[in-house]
This record gives sequence, C-alpha cells and structure tokens, in this order.
Amino acid sequence: MYAKIQETATWLKARISTQPETAIVLGTGLGKLADEIEVKDRIPYSEIPNMPVSTVEGHSGCLLIGKLGGKDILAMQGRFHFYEGYSMKEVTFPIRVMYELGIKTLFVSNAAGGTNPTFKIGDLMIITDHINFFPEHPLHGPNFPTGPRFPDMSEAYDKQLVALADEIAKEKGIEVQHGVYLGTQGPTFETPAEYKMFRILGADSVGMSTVPEVIVAHHCGIKVFGMSIITDIGVEGKIVEVSHEEVQKAANAVQPLMAEIMREMIKRS
Ligand code: HPA
Repeated sequence: MYAKIQETATWLKARISTQPETAIVLGTGLGKLADEIEVKDRIPYSEIPNMPVSTVEGHSGCLLIGKLGGKDILAMQGRFHFYEGYSMKEVTFPIRVMYELGIKTLFVSNAAGGTNPTFKIGDLMIITDHINFFPEHPLHGPNFPTGPRFPDMSEAYDKQLVALADEIAKEKGIEVQHGVYLGTQGPTFETPAEYKMFRILGADSVGMSTVPEVIVAHHCGIKVFGMSIITDIGVEGKIVEVSHEEVQKAANAVQPLMAEIMREMIKRS
C-alpha cells in the first residue's frame, strides 16, 4: 500500500505545478463549492494511478487543482464510500496521498440525517466530534509511520478552525448548529429505531462517510474541519421517507452558505 501511495503522489507532483497545503473533500450535492474554485487542472480519477474510481450518481470523480479564497487548493470531487464495496484502505487512500503532497489542512463536507430534535432540514452543522460506527477501522493493520499506533482522538476536529467558522458565520449572519457526526456504513438509511439508538449514543447527525477520512487525516497530522448539511430528520415523530434525490435537493438548496463559510475560512486560515 505504501508503495502505491508513493507512486500516486509522485505522479501527481509531476502533474501539479502548485504546492497546495489545503484540501477539500466535496460531499454529496456540494458541487457549489467546486463552482467557486478557479480550476487550473481537472484530473479524472481514472487517469490517476492506483486511484479507486467513484461510482455513485452525483459523484463525478475528479481531482481539482486550483485556487479558492486566494489559496492554492486541491479538491476531491467525488469520494469513495465503504458501502460501494471499497475497503477502508481504498476509502482513505486519497488522504494518505494528500499527506505525501504536503497537505496541512483538510475541509470535509457531507449530507447527513439530523438526530438532534432541535435540527431542521437545511441546517448547517459544524462537526465538533464524531462517533466511528463503521464495522472496519481505517487504521486496522500494520501502523503507518505518519502517526502513533494508538492515536489520540481528543481533538479530531480542530478547535481553532471551529472558532474561525463560528466567527465567519456570525459576521455573515449564517446560522450554524454544532454537533457530533456519527459515521455508519449504509447503504440503508436508518430505521426509526436506529435513529433513536444513534441519538441515545450521542449523535446529532448521521451519515455514511467522513469518519474514515478524518481518522486517517488526523493520523497524518492534518488539521480537519468538517460540516454536515442536514438533509433529512431522524427524530421520532418527524421521520418521513427519504431518498438520495431528496438528500441532494436539500443539500443543493443550502450549499451556497456552506461554500461561503468554507471559502472565507480558507482565505483566513
Ligand atoms: N442517514 C445516513 N446517511 C445520510 C442520511 C441519513 O439520514 N442523510 C444523508 N445521508
């Protein structure tokens, strides 16, 4: 695996003329942020050696190199989900490559179901912590030398970046929630009993991504900031049928606000 990471990083270093220190993982329906990037190079995953290829509808599968908020950035348009059949090593492969490329800060976004009863569809939630509910751990196996065998997880989401996001949201009059994101394997959305269980466990939102990437980024010493768009509600008495299309629609409606916060954060951090 390490040799493959090296090979991919070497290939990308030769292709990319900038040295970005900021990376973004664009989640479901969050193409708006991609539209804000001054794209200098768009590299389909299929051209990148060793890169898994994304299959889900709405995930186009390109690495974008460009500028956002005046900074050189690298963005993943389309990510790899465990439910697609990828191993955890594949899901987190691009993060390991990012580390080799010199990325210092990672911005992640996702669509999620709200389990906090005060949340409503279209809310933006700053992720302050997570619960790893995936059946396989991304650091399972021999330890990578980027971090310790038993990594500390007391601050997986950088507190300074959360404070910066709060400051920006306040300045711009954008309402934000804060909470714990629970990452689970999918591909089913939750039954009412499962949403209830996740709430009891301490989750404010639940989704099928992000946690593996954040764990690996943290193990690489990359600072992480993450945000969820609440696209449906998993609260007793408020649960209605949910589909991928509805999730995308709800995400599309609110993504300009998230894009605004992320752009400004990148500019100032
Ligand atoms: N559950 C899991 N994943 C999700 C949800 C949900 O309710 N909404 C968007 N992604």
